[in-house]
Formats: sequence, C-alpha cells, structure tokens
Amino acid sequence: MQQPPDTDPLNPPQRTLMGPGPSEVHPRVLRIMSAPLIGHLDPAFIEIMDEVQELLRYTFQTDNRWTIPVSGTGSASMETAFGNLVEPGDTVLVPTNGYFGGRMESMAERAGGDVVHVDAPWGEPLDPDDVAAAFDEHDPDVFGFVHAETSTGVLQPQVSELTSIAHEHDAYVIADCVTSLGGVELRVDEWDVDVAYSGGQKCLSCPPGASPLTLNDRAMEKVLGRDTDVRSWYLDLSLLEGYWGEERSYHHTAPITNVYALREALQLVAEEGLEARWERHREMATELKEGLEEMGLEMNPDDEFWLPSLNAVRVPDGVDDGKLLAELQEEHALEIASGLGDLEGEILRIGCMGYSARTPNIQFVLSALEEALANQGYEA
Ligand SMILES: Cc1ncc(COP(=O)(O)O)c(C=O)c1O
Repeated sequence: MQQPPDTDPLNPPQRTLMGPGPSEVHPRVLRIMSAPLIGHLDPAFIEIMDEVQELLRYTFQTDNRWTIPVSGTGSASMETAFGNLVEPGDTVLVPTNGYFGGRMESMAERAGGDVVHVDAPWGEPLDPDDVAAAFDEHDPDVFGFVHAETSTGVLQPQVSELTSIAHEHDAYVIADCVTSLGGVELRVDEWDVDVAYSGGQKCLSCPPGASPLTLNDRAMEKVLGRDTDVRSWYLDLSLLEGYWGEERSYHHTAPITNVYALREALQLVAEEGLEARWERHREMATELKEGLEEMGLEMNPDDEFWLPSLNAVRVPDGVDDGKLLAELQEEHALEIASGLGDLEGEILRIGCMGYSARTPNIQFVLSALEEALANQGYEA
C-alpha cells in the first residue's frame, strides 16, 4: 500500500500579477468560483450558458450565433479555430512576427494544412502590402494573424484592410485576440473577421479554463461542410454544436466553475462598458509607459503599434533580465516577464490587463522596477 505524501493544505503565495498573463482575478470572479456546482444540463446552467454567449457577443462586438467558451485555455480556443477551419490540403497563411504565429503554424500543420508565411520582424506588425503580396503568391484558403502579439507588445493595426485582402481572395480570416479581448478596441463584425478566439486570463481577469471563440456563418458553413472529420473529437465544432446550439445535449461535462467565472468576468465588462474599459486600459498603460520612459527606459515597438495591454520595454545595457525578474519576484512578490524568441534577453514584458490595470498596481511596478534596476547599477 502506497503511503500518502507528506503535504499540507494548499496555501499559494500572494503575487502582484503584472506579466503577460494571468492577470489578477477580480474579487467578484474569485467569489463566484466558490458557488456550489450545478449540473451542466441543469436548466439553470443552460440559462447561464445563454447569458455567457450573449455577453461574449457584446465583448467581441458581433452578432455571430456561433459564439461559445471552449473548455480549456486560450490554446484550446485557438486549436478549435484552426482544427475546424483548416482541412487537409488547405493552404494556410500565418505571420512570422511573433511567438504565436509560430503556434498557429504548428496547429495548422497538425490539421493537415500546408503552411505559407507572411513576414515581418518581431516587434513590428504585418504590412497590408506584404499580406496582399503573400495572397497573390500563395492564394491561401485560411489566413491567421495575431491582433495583440503578447510576445512583442505589438498591436496589429489596419485589421479591416487585412480582412478585405483575404476576402477578395475568398479566404477565411482567423484572428488571435487572446490579449486584446476586453482590453483593446476589437470589432469583430465591423472589421469582418471570420473567426476570433481569446482566453480568460488576460484582459478579462478570469482564471484560464473557458476560452472565448466566435465564428460567423460563412466560417461555420465551411466547418459543417468538411469532407473529413475534425481530427480532435473534443474540439470538433460539429459535435460541440449539439451542446452550445439549439439541442443542449451532452458532449462533455462543461467546466462549470470556469463558466461561472467567465460569466462574472463578462458581466464586469458589461457593467463597465466596453469603450470605457478600452479607455481605462489605455489610460493605465499610458501611466505605466510614461513612468518607464521617465526612468530612461525605451519601449520596444513604435508608438503607432503600442499595445496597451502588454508593454514591451527594452532591457537597458548592462542589466541582466533574469536577475531582475528574480529580484522582483523574491523581494516584491511581483510578476513581470522577459522576452521570448527573437526578443529573448532584449525586452521586459509588463502586462496592463483587466483588474491589474489600475493605478496602485502601476505605481507598484514602477517603484519596484526602479529599485531593482538601481540594484544593478542602472541610472536613469
Ligand atoms: C496571443 C496569444 N495567443 C495564444 C495564447 C495561448 O493561450 P493559453 O496559454 O491560455 O493556452 C496566448 C497565451 O499567452 C497568447 O498570448
């Protein structure tokens, strides 16, 4: 008989979360997560599902019928988008200007797609002329782009231009909105995005676990008209439709507590008002950016492409980013992150998302960072 391990009741450390996600969870969301479970087919839960869908439509600014939370983290809603829309043999155009374009590539390949690229350096958005040239060269069936690239702190502007190019070529557009939904202007219908997905733990300030996804009728027609089954049973929208569509029949047990949490997080978006929320993110991130610049630090992206929800700032010469992050965590219980991929060792990534996007948090990051930089001999 194996003996029980010698563990104590769980008591995770308190942290101030100002990294690329998760952000701090709103107290009202935490509270609702201790509410008793009800069954995933209980009429009361079905009502909650309807409300989540309605609130998601508002937050995505869409009338799409096919608007659901996918069970799992942002990668699950991402894989649902790529795994359903991409059929074997489809050509899929993905960007190379950040970490998550690379993940799009992996998912599109696993779905049987032939991947082609549109290039831009890490730290810059896609140029519509380059996207148009890639369409002329490859004539892709599906085009994925990242609206808010968490690895570089770049916001993709001119989304309507990108979607027009794709639609002139009869392609479908998938937008990664993981770090923009609920924090940065996003208008799915007005910008003519066919499929958009997100996660809970960024600007919605919800724990990860139920991840927003929306598809327009055109995209869903492609999904429902596939010649081959979606390779994942769990993420197959033609099956999930039975649970989230009219029928409300069992597919898998919904992560009930996560759905409660998302419902409350979206309720908070509705109460604040989407535009006011975008404005708050911008104001708080401006306070952060100005504070960083006063310290003599330099933002990585041009102002034009600055992403308020994720601030990428250059590591000053002579500063060891790993040591800096360790000191912030050990001495201040503060989480921010370093760079990834092409920007590894070159930038720090400071989130300004959801409930974390408020003055006390911003001031705390600025003072802790100033102290930690000074401890490495940095002078503004
Ligand atoms: C832009 C972007 N896309 C996709 C993901 C994947 O989400 P998750 O880590 O929740 O699976 C993330 C997570 O950080 C992200 O920032």
